Amino acid sequence: MANLISSILSFSALFSFLLFHCSNAAYNVLNFGAKPDGKTDSTQAFLKAWGAACKSGSASTISVPKGRYLVKAIAFRGPCRSRITVQIDGTIVAPSDYWALGNSEGKWILFIQVNRVSVIGGTLDASGPAFWACRRTGRNCPSGARSITFNWATNIVISGLTSINSQLSHMVINSCKNVMVKDVRLSAPRQSLNTDGIHVQGSTGVTVTRATIQTGDDCVSIGPGTRNMLMSNINCGPGHGVSIGSLGWGPREDGVQNITLTDAVFSGSDNGVRIKSWARPSNGFVNNVLFQNIIMKNVANPIIIDQNYCPSNQGCPRQSSGVKISQVTYRNIKGTSATQKAVSFDCSSSNPCKGIKLQDIKLTYMNKAASSSCKNVAGSSSRVPMPGLCF
Ligand SMILES: *[C@@H]1O[C@H](CO)[C@@H](O)[C@H](O)[C@H]1NC(C)=O
Repeated sequence: MANLISSILSFSALFSFLLFHCSNAAYNVLNFGAKPDGKTDSTQAFLKAWGAACKSGSASTISVPKGRYLVKAIAFRGPCRSRITVQIDGTIVAPSDYWALGNSEGKWILFIQVNRVSVIGGTLDASGPAFWACRRTGRNCPSGARSITFNWATNIVISGLTSINSQLSHMVINSCKNVMVKDVRLSAPRQSLNTDGIHVQGSTGVTVTRATIQTGDDCVSIGPGTRNMLMSNINCGPGHGVSIGSLGWGPREDGVQNITLTDAVFSGSDNGVRIKSWARPSNGFVNNVLFQNIIMKNVANPIIIDQNYCPSNQGCPRQSSGVKISQVTYRNIKGTSATQKAVSFDCSSSNPCKGIKLQDIKLTYMNKAASSSCKNVAGSSSRVPMPGLCF
């Protein structure tokens, strides 16, 4: 009798084990017709795998095995019924003809209105070089595409992703909530135009940790409506640094609030930490920002606020920014500046910067203390050995 009971028990344990594992559905793109040869168009196969996963009543995994997969502009749409993990062990490549992404409204790989999606591993290669070359010659070129975009997405994890040769931005997070980006490598050459690393806007709760970013534009750019963002362990350069902005193009614009960058190294970048706004009327704002524990290595503008952004003096009728900048702390920032002026605060004459704090800043230029310049800014400093500092 005892024997019978124990075998019933172990049978039911086995049964529930099987049930649990079979309920975690797996979809391999190869089974939907994808070819890992880098030549066959696998777009439809990826879409079919997504369709199956999206309908699944239980958590599912889409797997992309080793190999190269040619994928054109593609949209992974939600809402879906359950959690989806996209496990990528291969490389996804864009068509070498850059006109092929021309009609994709600026997006190559798009996740839209999804919830609880994780993208793990993988390499994206947007075949950018021919597109950059076209732009440099000023010939008739398409507008180009961002590599991976999340629009109106919630509870997203992007982990271990590599992106190379993006035409424009590598990664865009737009109107999202709760996004974790970790262990990513984003790379494009210094000379490639508008290849931002990560662009975030209209989003709350974005965390970026352990990212290595080498690009021709901002390593991270933070647009209007970004709140509660944390960046840590960031390696940036070449590139244009970590930028809040450009802000204040529009008269009505969401503010940027509660942004932290901690533990970062900038190497040979044009800027370190920058806040930038157009010299135009706007109700935008930047409030509660912390930049701390940062090493600058030969950075042209290590610390900069530029509220007089107006390339070619076009479209800035009053030449003063409406964006209100307040409570920005710079703490423990050390290293070398590639120019004499390591700290530059050029704030708006109509809306001076307030509550700017500098603590433990040690930046040198050619082995001597670097200098600063300040316009329309109020704040305080401690332990900042810099001759002629504004406060
Ligand atoms: C600020 O953002 C962090 C994430 O970086 C979050 O943990 C914290 O709760 C936010 N603070 C407020 C007051 O919202």
